Amino acid sequence: MTDIRNIVVLTGAGISAESGIATFRGPGGLWEGHRVEDVCTPEALVRDPALVHRFYDLRRAALAAVEPNAAHRALARLDAHWPGELLIVTQNVDDLHERAGARRLLHMHGELRSALCARCGARTAWAGDLPPATVCDACGAPALRPDIVFFGEMPYAMERIEAALEACDLFVSIGTSGAVYPAAGFVRTARWRGAQTIELNLDPSDGSVFFHESRMGAASVLVPEWVVSVLGDA
Ligand code: OAD
Repeated sequence: MTDIRNIVVLTGAGISAESGIATFRGPGGLWEGHRVEDVCTPEALVRDPALVHRFYDLRRAALAAVEPNAAHRALARLDAHWPGELLIVTQNVDDLHERAGARRLLHMHGELRSALCARCGARTAWAGDLPPATVCDACGAPALRPDIVFFGEMPYAMERIEAALEACDLFVSIGTSGAVYPAAGFVRTARWRGAQTIELNLDPSDGSVFFHESRMGAASVLVPEWVVSVLGDA
């Protein structure tokens, strides 16, 4: 890996599966209990705010019972020791990357431990339940909602992510099905700009053909192996 300096890592629900957080589209996935259109759209939030808030209250509460796994810890080690540029972009709304110690991290789909004011856009660290019509400290409006990027909304930090993808030498996708855009298109941006591209996933993702290399297996095994291959003994 001598010519690699600039790395972008994309993670999805598969990296947290072995911590006990169900993936979205696998067996037992969240969508089996709740239809995505019931909980994860701006329209659902208007139609049934109690359902949407309760759904995310349960997800937030569930964080207390889970811990980062070996894959999160390996990426945190990469973050701590990689001397070049690194950006870990996660689609996950859990906080397992940061609890493992990752710092060069972006939550493109929002965060369970954050509340967003639908009126003024302020984002506030949040623990515990978030009932509908909770008042925003910044503007006073009863408008706090879960800070989750719903279907049809723009993910966070897209300009920064696009710039990182265009500048990277290596793009690694971990534990994501490649079913949701724009994240599913990142591999093509990076590859088109000349990056090496690797997928680490349990099953081939929808965009598997776009990667130079696909390694199939559990994230808790593949990610530590890959980090050792990048860092050596550092
Ligand atoms: P998915 O549930 O669509 O895909 C999870 C992927 O992880 C699948 O390809 C599995 O094969 C793989 N996987 C499962 N267990 C694994 C393991 N132990 N090791 C490695 N891989 C494993 O989840 P995402 O691709 O993250 O958006 O879904 C993308 C977005 O869809 C989510 O961020 C969410 C949802 O709408 C929001 O919440 C806004």
